[in-house]
Amino acid sequence: MKTAEAIEALSNEQRRFPPPPEFAAQANAQPGIYEEAERDVESFWAGWARKLEWIKPFTRVLEWNEPFAKWFADGQLNATANCLDRHVKAGLGNRVAYNWEGEPGDRRTITYQQLLEEVCRLANGLRALGVRKGDRVAIYMPMIPELPIAMLACARIGAPHSVIFGGFSPDSIVDRVNDSECVALITTDQGWRRGNKIPLKDNCDAAMASTPSIKHCIVVKRVGDPVEMREGRDLWWDDVVKGQSAQCEPEPMNAEDLLYLLYTSGTTAKPKGIKHTTGGYLTEVTMTHKLVFDLKNDDVYWCAADIGWVTGHSYIVYGPLCNGATSVIYEGTPDFPERDRLWSIVERYKVSILYTAPTAIRTFMRWGTEYPERHDLSSLRLLGSVGEPINPEAWMWYRQHIGGGRCPIVDTWWQTETGAIMISPLPGVTTTLPGSATRPLPGTFADVVNDQGESVPPGGGGYLVLTRPWPGMLRGIWGDDQRYRDTYWSRFPHKYLAGDGCRRDLDGNYWFMGRIDDVMNVSGHRISTTEVESALVEHPQVAEAAVVGRLDELTGQAICAFVCLRGGAAGSNVLADELRAHVGARLGKFTTPKYLTFTHELPKTRSGKIMRRLLRDIAEGRILGDTTTLADSAVVHELQERAKLEATKEE
Ligand code: WTA
Repeated sequence: MKTAEAIEALSNEQRRFPPPPEFAAQANAQPGIYEEAERDVESFWAGWARKLEWIKPFTRVLEWNEPFAKWFADGQLNATANCLDRHVKAGLGNRVAYNWEGEPGDRRTITYQQLLEEVCRLANGLRALGVRKGDRVAIYMPMIPELPIAMLACARIGAPHSVIFGGFSPDSIVDRVNDSECVALITTDQGWRRGNKIPLKDNCDAAMASTPSIKHCIVVKRVGDPVEMREGRDLWWDDVVKGQSAQCEPEPMNAEDLLYLLYTSGTTAKPKGIKHTTGGYLTEVTMTHKLVFDLKNDDVYWCAADIGWVTGHSYIVYGPLCNGATSVIYEGTPDFPERDRLWSIVERYKVSILYTAPTAIRTFMRWGTEYPERHDLSSLRLLGSVGEPINPEAWMWYRQHIGGGRCPIVDTWWQTETGAIMISPLPGVTTTLPGSATRPLPGTFADVVNDQGESVPPGGGGYLVLTRPWPGMLRGIWGDDQRYRDTYWSRFPHKYLAGDGCRRDLDGNYWFMGRIDDVMNVSGHRISTTEVESALVEHPQVAEAAVVGRLDELTGQAICAFVCLRGGAAGSNVLADELRAHVGARLGKFTTPKYLTFTHELPKTRSGKIMRRLLRDIAEGRILGDTTTLADSAVVHELQERAKLEATKEE
């Protein structure tokens, strides 16, 4: 191992997919854009910012007082005027903003005009309740149209929203609401999930016993069962908007005024309230949405993430609306009532751009091709992926079975903290490789560095850093500047530490290898969990795999793999040996998993990321730490039982 490298890069993907010439010819982004941004990055961003509508135009572009950035700081604008009024004024009021489909099958179509009116009514209602500019408002809702309406109503009056994913528990609500002292909470009576009713209002009631700052709780009637309404505190949404005008002056906001907080915990530690402000954030989400997804007027765009995550904030709400897109929102799970639900939605609305996550793609792989095959997916012309490294085999499956072999795939790397996509192909420009997010977008400056913070030469691996401020970047952590410096700016001077391991190949393509703490050290080799997982998923019988290091007397750490098989099949010792041999042959003998367990599910966060920390605890037989972010706790139980069995076998 070269000492300069922080992580060894083992795989060598050879497949290449240049953009189809017809796609390239019509693409929004053309090759010259990289040079344009390189030449003068500040005027590049200022150019995109000027495409927004400003109440007061900015004259300054960037003020960088490391690690705090101000973009377009003397300008004023309102996010919703850009998302809504601008399009209505341009005569696009009848364009559909959202095609919404509820889990039980109910549907709504909402035009830009209607969306504007609903946002204004709620904004007026919030003002009438005493919510003022600068007050924080928590939102805890399922994927119904009132969720973006609530966010936009807050933005209309300058009250930063703090969306809390609807799958979180009362404790998670308490932590987030109290940290930023939200004055109001917007929720629903209940939500639908796989045909079951989720008690959102009950969860809020439990939380509100410990959130003294909340004065009002506004409740949308979604399901209709009776819920407790506390006099003086709880109000029905319908009553709040009743009689309110459908016009509401947008509050003029400084470019650097807070647009929202979004708490991110990943898999460890107290959640951080990530701060996003108005002008720079809107500029960058609008630009990336237009270029990375090649959005055109007649596209039907569907980001299948939940609005409770940053992906939904940037690429269901602010980016698409600023671009006047027609989007799809679906309330429920992909397997309700059957495993073809997403594909039936693609067919019904003739979705042309689909953006989803590797964890979903691997699930679809596991379910098999019969579900997408039931539907006409020929409307699709572009596919996107986000949230985790996508294994090359999942990428190929997505391309072939969803994209019909014709759609470019954009594997987009970014974070809650970055606000917008940072590293991604431009679909009409970039030659893609399965498993690589390719290159930093125009206007984005990244590097891969070793332990000393030195740039690693092509072919090597290390830590991904961002080397210049960007408009959509976080402006810090709510109430904790020190934690902001410590987490992102202290490891390497003048560089933002993303926390991801990454390799750059000889052509300059970036290959993400998971979070830094997911790196294993086996006999002095630093091995990325992602690479071993990808090798496992390459095997035709494997649908999904998670790999962690387990303490080992001999080798420091030993590789421990948890494997789900396609079609839900059970494993066997023979197959386990075959998989071990397969990984060894693919990446080198020293990467052969010492332990290999079959399981029907992996423990994941509610946003679909594998919780390797939990798997490490399980593998090492420890008491489990915090499991509040876990999506399905039954899985852990099953795995613990199996791990005990494995341990006995060994002795
Ligand atoms: C991971 C989601 C590889 C990465 C937008 C990052 C990815 C974390 C990719 C942020 C990708 C996201 N390839 N890894 N295309 N996209 N990640 O804050 O580890 O929920 O640091 O934001 O997800 O997750 P977050």
